[in-house]
Amino acid sequence: MSMTRRASIATIATAIAGGLAADALSFEGAEANPSTEPWHKIGTLAELKARGEIAFMYPDANSPARALLLGNGDVVAYSLICTHMGCEVAYARETQTFTCPCHGSVFDATRSGEVERGPAPRSLPEIAVRSSHDGVLYAVGISAPVFGRPESLEENQTIYGTGNER
Ligand code: FES
Repeated sequence: MSMTRRASIATIATAIAGGLAADALSFEGAEANPSTEPWHKIGTLAELKARGEIAFMYPDANSPARALLLGNGDVVAYSLICTHMGCEVAYARETQTFTCPCHGSVFDATRSGEVERGPAPRSLPEIAVRSSHDGVLYAVGISAPVFGRPESLEENQTIYGTGNER
């Protein structure tokens, strides 16, 4: 796969901001082929543009995640499992932050899920998103294991970076 995570996100964002038809999007070397790739369908660009966010499960059926269309047009996605003790965080579109109901950690959706307020020790795991030529969005990898589910990553799933390095 020749494109970086950031490049693909930027391409999606550019297409949305520019109002391009979904089928105008393509990703060199990253065309969706769910039968052979461990890609997980999460929705469509049209849905994301209409609703601003899409809820899905990733990297397993018990791990809630959220894809977001940020105010600047960027498309991002994160695990909703707090890195402190595993509670499910809630997203606030007004502040573009996730807040944990258990101990108050806050994560910045505009900065790779960085911790804005602890006690969470690490960023939320960020999920890489790709689009097929016909505007279907897929989760294709995650930056770090989800709290309490280190075994949830499939063997051939893309994991970029180590921990939450930027
Ligand atoms: S579980 Fe989220 S702050 Fe403690």
